[in-house]
Amino acid sequence: MPESAFYAAVESRRTVRDFLPDPVPREVLDRALDAARLAPSSSNLQPWEFIIIRDPKVRQAANAACLDQQPAKTAPVLIALVTHRDTWRRNRDEILRIFKGRGPLRPSQAAYYRRIVPLIYTTGPFGILGPLKRFFSRVASLFKPTPNLMSRSDIRIMAHKSTALAAATFMLAMRAEGYDTCPMEGFDPWRAEALLGLPRGVEVNMFLAVGRRSDTGVWWDRALMPREWAVREI
Ligand SMILES: Cc1cc2nc3c(=O)[nH]c(=O)nc-3n(C[C@H](O)[C@H](O)[C@H](O)COP(=O)(O)O)c2cc1C
Repeated sequence: MPESAFYAAVESRRTVRDFLPDPVPREVLDRALDAARLAPSSSNLQPWEFIIIRDPKVRQAANAACLDQQPAKTAPVLIALVTHRDTWRRNRDEILRIFKGRGPLRPSQAAYYRRIVPLIYTTGPFGILGPLKRFFSRVASLFKPTPNLMSRSDIRIMAHKSTALAAATFMLAMRAEGYDTCPMEGFDPWRAEALLGLPRGVEVNMFLAVGRRSDTGVWWDRALMPREWAVREI
């Protein structure tokens, strides 16, 4: 790999499962969170929220919801990264407000955010439009390339995809700062959602344990799949 701060962060990032108790400076965490906010997202709708768990009682319950995994128990900082599948309207309006604040809305911006985004993301009450939209897209696709006009489950996948990209950006930013992370999907989703008071349409994407690795923080050597299983050309 070429020598650069980026590749150094990519190469040295490992899942760390045992952390030193050293605190993570607020400004370091904030820089990495702000880097994560720049991650790409579907239609730029940024469906993520990083919940930094500070309250000791909540933290203890969150550790338990993370099945008392060692990284959760030892990390000085624990973050619940949640994904919102119902904030697309609010966030679409914010995008339009930002664009309008910079001058007249470009026709392409107006068309995309006023027509196309609602067409893709509206699923109607109880999601009843979802299967119809999906069926319509599937049939139309037989005749010409057609986007998937999403059902509720498609929107859920979209929200999780985009949120995971924010997680990856955050983890690499922390590594570039000399800190470590452990992404965790080994948790009890029902307890985690109750603990965080998440409403319908909001789910925990993953927990992120953050801190500095201890000498025994990296448990296993890297095990990479053969390159041809991961990359091919057609
Ligand atoms: C979505 C996701 C969920 C994960 N969940 C856990 C987890 O609950 N506990 C854990 O110890 N590691 C977890 N990991 C870490 C993986 O086991 C780890 O990334 C993988 O073994 C590769 O090791 P590396 O990150 O050090 O390269 C998770 C990773 C991802 C991307």
